[in-house]
Formats: sequence, structure tokens, C-alpha cells
Amino acid sequence: MNLTKLYLAPMAGAADIAMRLMCFDHGADMCTTEMISAAAVKYGDKKTFRLAAIDEREGVCALQVFGHDPGVIAYAIKALYDNAKVKPAAFDINMGCPVKKVVSNGDGSALMRDPLLAANIMEAAVKASPVPVTVKMRLGWDREHINCAELCRIAGECGVSSVCVHGRTSRDMYAPGTVDINAIAEARAAARIPFTANGDITDVESAEKMLSATGADALMIGRAALGDPFVFEMIRAGLGGLPYTPPTVHERLFAAKRHLLLMVGLKGERTGVCEGRKHAAWYTKGMTGSAALRRRMNSASSTAEMINILEEIEKVQNYDGTTDPY
Ligand SMILES: Cc1cc2nc3c(=O)[nH]c(=O)nc-3n(C[C@H](O)[C@H](O)[C@H](O)COP(=O)(O)O)c2cc1C
Repeated sequence: MNLTKLYLAPMAGAADIAMRLMCFDHGADMCTTEMISAAAVKYGDKKTFRLAAIDEREGVCALQVFGHDPGVIAYAIKALYDNAKVKPAAFDINMGCPVKKVVSNGDGSALMRDPLLAANIMEAAVKASPVPVTVKMRLGWDREHINCAELCRIAGECGVSSVCVHGRTSRDMYAPGTVDINAIAEARAAARIPFTANGDITDVESAEKMLSATGADALMIGRAALGDPFVFEMIRAGLGGLPYTPPTVHERLFAAKRHLLLMVGLKGERTGVCEGRKHAAWYTKGMTGSAALRRRMNSASSTAEMINILEEIEKVQNYDGTTDPY
């Protein structure tokens, strides 16, 4: 049996409560909230507190914060913890976000350019947090400044409980083929605390490759779980050498409907349907004849309309496994 933990990656705009519930149901060992602005918490922004909420049906869930001021991060951790109905299992510090709006403020992956400030933030977070603190980072700012090994070592010294490294630099953004497994392995060797590897894990083969090269304690999966929460079961079975039967089209569409209903239940029909369209599109990607029906989803405004479209997609499937290049 393979005991490698499988985590869902934090994904702003996607990995909300509904997606996390779907992933927990299909075998994710831990999920993380979307990134939460420490500054917005300090301003008392109500929407930010709603975004940070964890549902009582969830499994082990970490709450991710971003910011660049140790005092504000410490304040946010305390406020989020005190206000949370369901307490997070850990606070995760975002040191990986490459988005311009975030790094231009000194947040996210910009922290990797200033290890001293990063250390102050980690220390302040550990001191403020009633639960373990974890850190998610990239390889470094760019190819000339790969310093994740140094930051992983510093994280351990600051009392951080575990680190996750996404094997791209900030400058790489999400460019295909840029994940550097050897650099992740170097960070793993430098970290004296539990280590999670992340980047382009999509199937059993890529999971095995990441594990054997890095010896990570856990693997984190992001984009491969969009519209496919089954990916956790598939990879777990594969790593354990167990037989695995992939979900049928019917099972995938059933999951898409469940996901939509969870979103509507949690966010109300208007927002649930609006935000649910992209998830439904991910679930149905590549299914026979779904392209035209997916276009119809974009103007669907009710749950019933969305469910009807998903059922129509099911009716036009070729059960011989052929797919439409959408
Ligand atoms: C839509 C989207 C939103 C993301 N939001 C966050 C975030 O809020 N915090 C974070 O640390 N990483 C975020 N990431 C990065 C992922 O957590 C992950 O590191 C990255 O997608 C690489 O993993 P993958 O190849 O398995 O997708 C995001 C990625 C995507 C695609």
C-alpha cells in the first residue's frame, strides 16, 4: 500500500467549498482555501471572511493567506481563526502567486526575492497561529534566482510545519514544460520538515515520476482536478498498484450535476449557476457533441437549465469511448 498523501492545490476562483467537497469525496487528503488577502482581513472586509469559510462537511482544510507585512499576517491569522465557525487545520502562507497585481504589491512570489522578510513573516505567522503553519512557494523568482532550497530550510528554522514547492519560477507563470523536478528534489533535500511536491501532476505516471525523483511526503494536484475530482482515486490506486476503473460518462456527468447543486446550495442560484458554468465546462470537456451544448451553458441562468443541458450532453455520448475534439 502506498501512503503518499494527495492534496488539492489552492486555486483562486475555482477551489471553493463545493470543489473541495467534491475532491474530499473522491479521496483528497487535504484541501486548501483560495488565497485570502491578509490586508482585506485587517480592513474587516466581509466578503473576504466569506471566502475564507470552511464547511463543516469538509475534511482536513488549510486556510491560505497572502500579504507582505508580518504584523498584518499575524493579525489576519488571529482574526480568521477567531471568526471561523469551522477552524482551519493549518494556515498556509502564499509565497508562490505570480500574478502581476499580487507581486507588484510585494505579496505572493515577490516574498521569495526577500528571504529576510519571508522569514519574518513565517516567524510572525507561527507565533500568531493556534494551528500549524505551512508555506507554499515556487522555485524562486526566475531561473537566475532559484532559492526554494534556502527558503525551505529557513521555513523549518522558523517553526513552519511543512512546505510545498511548485516546480516553476514566478516568471514561468504556468508555461507548459517548465516544471523542474530536479530543483524540487534539491528543495526536498534541504527541507527538514514534511515536503509536498506540486506541478503538472495529472496522472499515475506523472505522480510516480514526481515521487521517485523527489521523495516528497505528499503530492499536490491543481488543474488536473478541475472537472475531474476522480483524479485523486485514480492516482491513489495507481501508486498503490491497485486496479482502477475510470468513471463512466454517466458518473462524470452525475458528478458535474452534484457539483453544480453544491454551488447553488452554497452561493444561491444566481451566483451558483454563473460560477458553475466553468466547472460544468471542465467536466464535459472532450465529451462527444458537447461543444455546442457548452456554448448554450454560457447563457443558462437557472439550475434547471444547466441540468437539462448536462442531461442532453449525456444523451449524445458515444459510449464506445470516442470523443469530440471540442
Ligand atoms: C486558476 C488557478 C488559481 C490558483 N490560485 C492559487 C492560489 O490562490 N494560491 C496558490 O498558492 N496557488 C494558486 N494556484 C497555483 C496552484 O495551486 C498550483 O500550484 C499550480 O496550478 C500548479 O499545479 P498543477 O500543475 O497541478 O495545476 C492557482 C492555479 C490556478 C490554475
